[in-house]
Amino acid sequence: MGRTLITADEIQARVLELAEAISHDYAGRDLLLICVLKGAAIFWADLCRAIRVPCQSDFVAMESYGDASAPLEEPRFTKAADVTLANRDILIVEDIIDTGHTSACLRGLLRAQSPRSLALCALLDKAERRQVNSPIEYCGFVIPNAFVVGYGLDFAQQYRHLPFIAVLETQPEH
Ligand code: IMP
Ligand code: MG
Repeated sequence: MGRTLITADEIQARVLELAEAISHDYAGRDLLLICVLKGAAIFWADLCRAIRVPCQSDFVAMESYGDASAPLEEPRFTKAADVTLANRDILIVEDIIDTGHTSACLRGLLRAQSPRSLALCALLDKAERRQVNSPIEYCGFVIPNAFVVGYGLDFAQQYRHLPFIAVLETQPEH
């Protein structure tokens, strides 16, 4: 394990700020959180418990890199949402935006289901790595170009349980 990039306390403080902004912006609306499995599960669990307006949650899963590193150009759902998205105020909850391919594709897939509004909340933004421009309406932390694990993020399905974000010492090839 490498050095800690973001401590558990820093994460918790930022999650509360994000939840506060979301609670303010979504008051009187029909908020549906779409948690992108598996990486966003821990972030979603903390975020949704700090949101103070009525909200529902559902889960989607996208085809992922697996343990390799080549980004898929056209990721697909391996699990689609169970509920109808039409006319809902959808807020996607993501762990990290790297190249931007996954979230750009996810936005397209969800937009096709005619939500009233569509926005994204990502804990981490690896801005230097962006290839596809896709907006992040609520961003936790902009981080440098390093492979990070913890707080839901994995390397080969490991380290998701860590309560902080750390840089992986031996970085997988991007
Ligand atoms: P994108 O399509 O390149 O933006 O990739 C997003 C996905 O890649 C995320 O949802 C993560 O699953 C994975 N990913 C990208 N960077 C990291 C990292 O530093 N640690 C762990 N997973 C990552
Ligand atoms: Mg992952």
